Formats: sequence, C-alpha cells, structure tokens
Amino acid sequence: MIAEPTKPAPFADPRLPERIPRHVAIIMDGNGRWAASRGLPRSEGHRRGTENLRSTIRAAVEFGVEILTVYAFSTENWGRPRREVKLLLRILEMVIDRELRELHENGVQIRHIGELGGIPENLQRKVKQACEHTKNNKRLILNVAFNYGGRDEIVHAVRRIVESGIPADQITEETIAANLYTTGLPDPDLIIRTSGELRVSNFLIWQGSYSEYYATPVYWPDFSRDEFLAAILDYNRRKRRFGLTDAQIAGEDVVGEDDDD
Ligand code: IPE
Ligand code: IPE
Ligand code: MG
Repeated sequence: MIAEPTKPAPFADPRLPERIPRHVAIIMDGNGRWAASRGLPRSEGHRRGTENLRSTIRAAVEFGVEILTVYAFSTENWGRPRREVKLLLRILEMVIDRELRELHENGVQIRHIGELGGIPENLQRKVKQACEHTKNNKRLILNVAFNYGGRDEIVHAVRRIVESGIPADQITEETIAANLYTTGLPDPDLIIRTSGELRVSNFLIWQGSYSEYYATPVYWPDFSRDEFLAAILDYNRRKRRFGLTDAQIAGEDVVGEDDDD
C-alpha cells in the first residue's frame, strides 16, 4: 500500500483530517439538472459547472491532494444532441485558452486521459500543447478525462499489448495497468460522484476496483469546497481492507500466515 501524504501543517483548515486521499477522481454530474431546476438552458449549467471546476482545483491544491482526475466527457456523451456536443468541445477549448496560464502559475500539471484521436484536430493540438507546457509542474496533477470510457481504455490497452508481441503467459495486472491512459499513476483513493446517481458510468473501471466511492445529491455546479471537504472527512471514516481482515490491517496478524483454526 502506498503511504498517503499527511496534511500540510501551517495555516491549514483545522477541519482537515490526517489522511488526505492522494488521488481523487470526480464524476462531475448534474449540470443539466442544475440548470433545469432554475429554468435555465443546459448550456448555462455547463458554464457554471466549468467555473466550479476552477474552484475545485484550487481546493484540491489547498487540501494537499496530489492527483485530481475529472470526468468531463465520456465516450457515451457523443450520443447527445449535436448542439450540446459542440458546446462541450468548445468549453474544453475555452478552458484551455482562459485557464492555462493560471493553472501553470499554480503548478498544475495537465494530463489528458481518453481517446485524443477522436476529437477535432485543432483541439487535439491545444490539448497536447497544454500538457506539454505544464509537464514539469509538481503541485497537482490534473487528469482531464475527455472522450474517455473505461471499456474503451481497456480495449486500447489490449491492442497495445497485442501489438507489442508480449507472450500471453507474461501478461500480468501490471502489464494492463501500464498500458492504460493513467500509466504510472496510483489508483484513485476516492471517487466522488455528484447529482445523486449511484453508478460508475464507465469511469475508471479498472483503476477504481478498490477506490472508496462517495456520492452526494448536490449537482456539480453547487459542489463547493466544503462539500469536497465533507467527502474527504467521510473518506477518513472508511476502513480500507483490500480483501484482508481487520486484524491484519491493524498489524495484529501477519498477511497470509497459516494457522489451524
Ligand atoms: C455533467 O452534467 C456534464 C457532462 C456529462 C458532460 P450532465 O450534462 O450530465 O447533467 P445532467 O446529468 O443531465 O443533469
Ligand atoms: C457521466 O455523466 C459522464 C461525465 C460526467 C462526463 P453522464 O451524465 O454522462 O452519465 P449517465 O448517462 O447519467 O450515466
Ligand atoms: Mg448526467
């Protein structure tokens, strides 16, 4: 198990717990319902949702989270009305244009996960440039899942493995993990979903096998710093066993030790 970072001591929010999840992933859901509940168009929900991402990134830096993965556009979202798809592509472009400088100044390293080849070429270039420009930043890794699907990611990994010619009996879990878009990164400790839905929607299906899940009824545009903190406090109350017993986790019993009872 990888040790989690401890909270940054001076000036930190006293409510911050000792265990800060190293990698937090968020399914940013509910923009449309947020807008509908206010009699606004869905586009306004997406605009407010984008603003909220900015404050969430700031909170992640403040809390000492090392990796933040956000689900922005799924492989299934292509099925939405053309107008909405175009808007979501434009939002990604606008975010890069408007936020790149500040993100860079704040030490954020931008990465993309998903099938880059599936998005328009000018946007592909922008995404690549943003990743390249920020690649040496160390404060926070921001993984943007855009045109991302967990099944698609596994298909992509299998193709790469087959192409590499590695013998079947040498393929391990590590081989697969190393060929996913998240290669080299630890699995998410905490996966948050807003808007009250209790499903995975094709997000990090391999990497999330032992993540702690947290669902809140709050729609994404209303997911505040304090909501984020509440999720981290809830995470602190969880007992992660990874298939073992409580006694083993407490170090009272040796992992895999044989006895008679
Ligand atoms: C999340 O909000 C953003 C994307 C999926 C791109 P939705 O657009 O899914 O909002 P709801 O779920 O319809 O309320
Ligand atoms: C999941 O939300 C995808 C993103 C947040 C980008 P959806 O709104 O697409 O999920 P479903 O369709 O309700 O499962
Ligand atoms: Mg939704």
